[in-house]
Amino acid sequence: MLITVAQDPQALAVALADRVVLQAQAAAGQSRRFCLALSGGKTPADLYRELARRGSAIPWAALDIYFSDERAVGPDHPDSNFRLAQELWLKQAPAGTRIHRIPGERGAAEAARAYEELLTRTDETAFFDLVFLGLGTDGHIASLFPDSCLNTDKTVVAVPAAGPRTARISLSLRALCSARTRFVVAQGAGKARALKESVAPGAKTPLAQLLACAPVEFWLDGAAAAGLCPFPPAP
Ligand code: 6PG
Repeated sequence: MLITVAQDPQALAVALADRVVLQAQAAAGQSRRFCLALSGGKTPADLYRELARRGSAIPWAALDIYFSDERAVGPDHPDSNFRLAQELWLKQAPAGTRIHRIPGERGAAEAARAYEELLTRTDETAFFDLVFLGLGTDGHIASLFPDSCLNTDKTVVAVPAAGPRTARISLSLRALCSARTRFVVAQGAGKARALKESVAPGAKTPLAQLLACAPVEFWLDGAAAAGLCPFPPAP
């Protein structure tokens, strides 16, 4: 378990952007494609703004950009994870950049089937070079919630609506575990408890189940890191 702690969300975004650009450039330099899956929620906003500042340092021609999950809504809906990435960063992408949106407007079941087909058609083994994951306060990752069935051999799952939570489409635990690298990005004191609970012995949160099957790199600000390490970073 590798933990990077930044002083604040902006410093975290800069450190993350540095790492992603470096990894993508290394792949491009070896004429390899760099397949990454962007996370949902609002945490990635600072990272997208920072990546937008990197301009031509982004090796767009080498990228395949996917999403770790999406709400069952269209790309213009305020809740769309794609929309946030598009507005803050992906609108810069040159024509022809390989951005693979989850078609949430087709409904969770049909969108999950279509995305599964897309991923299976390409390469279903250790497919992603890097998957970004946010963390919910209940320890959920992507759209894998504590009440979700995580034991499936599917690559993409449809997650039914529950109460105020809209229906969603998510990479499965199996797909997350088969990626080469997983970054769990969390910021703010509200995530400290979910982190602490998820690394405790016998924990059953979706993050705990991910940790049980694959190594994770944590990228945290000082407030969230309090859940993992008692000493906040020195000023
Ligand atoms: C979503 C994501 C979800 C998100 C976490 C953190 O679509 O909302 O699937 O896992 O990453 O809930 O959300 P915030 O970044 O908004 O705190």
